[in-house]
Amino acid sequence: MSQLQSVKPASRNRKSESVMPTRRDLRFDLPADRVQDWVGNGGVQFTHLMNAMSLVIPVGERFFIDAVRHYRDQIQDPELKKAATAFIGQEAMHGREHDQYNARMIERLPSAAVFERRVKKLLDTFQARTPPSMRLSSTIALEHLTALMANGLLADARVTENAEPGYHALWRWHALEETEHKGVAYDVWEATQGRGPRAYAIRAFGLVLATAIFWSMVVPHYLNFVREEGRLTDLKGWKSAYDMAFGRIGFLRRMVRPWFDYFRPDFHPWDDDNSRFLEGIEQFSAPYARRQAPLQTAA
Ligand SMILES: [Fe+2]
Ligand SMILES: [Fe+2]
Repeated sequence: MSQLQSVKPASRNRKSESVMPTRRDLRFDLPADRVQDWVGNGGVQFTHLMNAMSLVIPVGERFFIDAVRHYRDQIQDPELKKAATAFIGQEAMHGREHDQYNARMIERLPSAAVFERRVKKLLDTFQARTPPSMRLSSTIALEHLTALMANGLLADARVTENAEPGYHALWRWHALEETEHKGVAYDVWEATQGRGPRAYAIRAFGLVLATAIFWSMVVPHYLNFVREEGRLTDLKGWKSAYDMAFGRIGFLRRMVRPWFDYFRPDFHPWDDDNSRFLEGIEQFSAPYARRQAPLQTAA
């Protein structure tokens, strides 16, 4: 019997069943004069890599929302249906806050708006020309990348130890909620596409395609941001960015091995149980909860 045939039938992972995401309406104070160097340790070079990723987020996460929403009515399990609704709510909040963040980036470097438009055009074309299963496959692939980045951010305090507090809080919140919902789109995939060889092939192809498109969009625009900052030849800056991404800290380097885990036929995002990061999520979130506007009272 092949490995593909031996995997168990579609069912939600135990951990997924115990982690129900919560939509949190939070606001962050992001000083405009720190958008280019908010990471601190990694300097402008590493900060703009994070900024380039932020520019993809609102458009990308709206694409995820549409991909999951398309299948929501086909979900039989009421808990998974509830989790899918919470997933949509969380991604909508992330998009809104990253829009605020990205506005600061566009204010500093207007070419950031060109990048955003290009990503939107690409995803609109992809949405118009591919079947819903391919869009969900791309979503779970990008959710895998996002979950790995979130884990990298939460697992190693050195990445953000000298970061500006507002930007740090926004990324931490996003990383926590990406961890909280990391199994949801995947469970929707298994509930609607199953675990057979066809589903495996589409999901595996989705990760290769999504990773290639993601980095081929991000890297040239990121380098252009560094160029516009006049830092292309700043070797000291590149050294600290390298340390952060691939060297001593290795934020990106540490994602390579778990990236391959996705190709296991019985892979599930919660195979790596990092739910310990979610302890204290409410205490962390409380100070950023959206304050209600005071009620207008008649004179
Ligand atoms: Fe998100
Ligand atoms: Fe997500």
